[in-house]
Amino acid sequence: MTVLGLLDEIASVGRDAGTGGYRRFAFTRDDAVLAQWFAGACAARGLDLTVDRCGNQWAWWGDPDAAADAGDPGVVTGSHLDSVPDGGAFDGPLGVVSALAAVDVLRGNGFTPSRPLGVVRFVDEEGARFGLACSGSRLLTGAARPDVVLALRDAGGTTYAQALQDAGLDASAVGRDEATLRRVGAFVELHVEQGRLLARPEVAAPVGAASLIRPHGRWRVDLTGRADHAGTTLLADRQDPMLDLARLVLAVRSQAERHDTVGTVGKVEVRPNAVNAVPSHVSAWLDVRADTEDRVRAVVAGLAAQGFAAVEESWTPATPLDAGLTRRVAAVAGGPGSPVPVVPTGAGHDAGVLALAGVPAAMLFVRNPTGTSHAPDEHAEPDDCAAGVRALAAVLADLCG
Ligand code: GLV
Ligand code: MN
Ligand code: MN
Repeated sequence: MTVLGLLDEIASVGRDAGTGGYRRFAFTRDDAVLAQWFAGACAARGLDLTVDRCGNQWAWWGDPDAAADAGDPGVVTGSHLDSVPDGGAFDGPLGVVSALAAVDVLRGNGFTPSRPLGVVRFVDEEGARFGLACSGSRLLTGAARPDVVLALRDAGGTTYAQALQDAGLDASAVGRDEATLRRVGAFVELHVEQGRLLARPEVAAPVGAASLIRPHGRWRVDLTGRADHAGTTLLADRQDPMLDLARLVLAVRSQAERHDTVGTVGKVEVRPNAVNAVPSHVSAWLDVRADTEDRVRAVVAGLAAQGFAAVEESWTPATPLDAGLTRRVAAVAGGPGSPVPVVPTGAGHDAGVLALAGVPAAMLFVRNPTGTSHAPDEHAEPDDCAAGVRALAAVLADLCG
């Protein structure tokens, strides 16, 4: 089955008819449909499915425990199926369907892995519902505290713990999962590129590998005012936090320019959110990324100096992917004498969380002609997707041969 054929099977799940984008949020009914689809696709390939303590699904070709006992744990590929609000079809799903398609290629070639080969679907990579990106892999590796994550609430007030229970998972079991981690000797995540480095004319490569995930963080800024009548309250009498929001957005932009970072205020909550009331409260969420951690921190410090207290909700340090594994992946993916380009990225990934936990991890990127991502227009050409599958299959054959 081709990548596009597989993507087609889930094309209608969580799709917003208005924007054409996807709203696939963790532990919702759409997420359950995707989990079920993934289980079926793995079963159809004869892979043995397990669900870890944190809700991530793992499907194995070969016995991962016997291999771990023998000191030669398996090789895993895969990604996530959840999305940002109005996200594209490729961010996450491309890595999952390419993993399945690569298994098809290997089986078609009569290949038998000498190390177990796993396909994983991580839950809640985007953090769109509870605010913490990569919660599935962070919990799995112990990078996030279960008590903190389980208490997170979505916009409707449902806790992460309740959402897990509603999805049929056991919230009391959540936490670092040694039994799962010991099975993973290496992780290779294929992903659509979320930028234009591979598409530059002087590069023009359908497939690349990742060198580094840039440091990034998310913060919340709470702005408080006083609710009042929009028609009768004199401008001079108002305490309007919306004005502070406007100042904050401009301050983020100027701090980002000053420190050579990117900075985004992409989400706000306004109370009471009424057209004829001066708001009482605005919460704004800030995302800052750069080449170095110092620059990211400098933006937040600059905002603090202007009176904006930002509460850190997540932090991801600069994360190099495994250098040796990346060299090998790039060499195999490109073929003899022509390794694929190795490029950094400003996007976060479960591969980075695993890398920080000490799992040798690498990434393959598939060219994105415009670089657009986290938007309905996100795209990769069918030929490039096919090249991605060929590269991934070659890498898996090399690592599991
Ligand atoms: C996830 O894709 C992120 O980089 O926020
Ligand atoms: Mn994403
Ligand atoms: Mn992703």
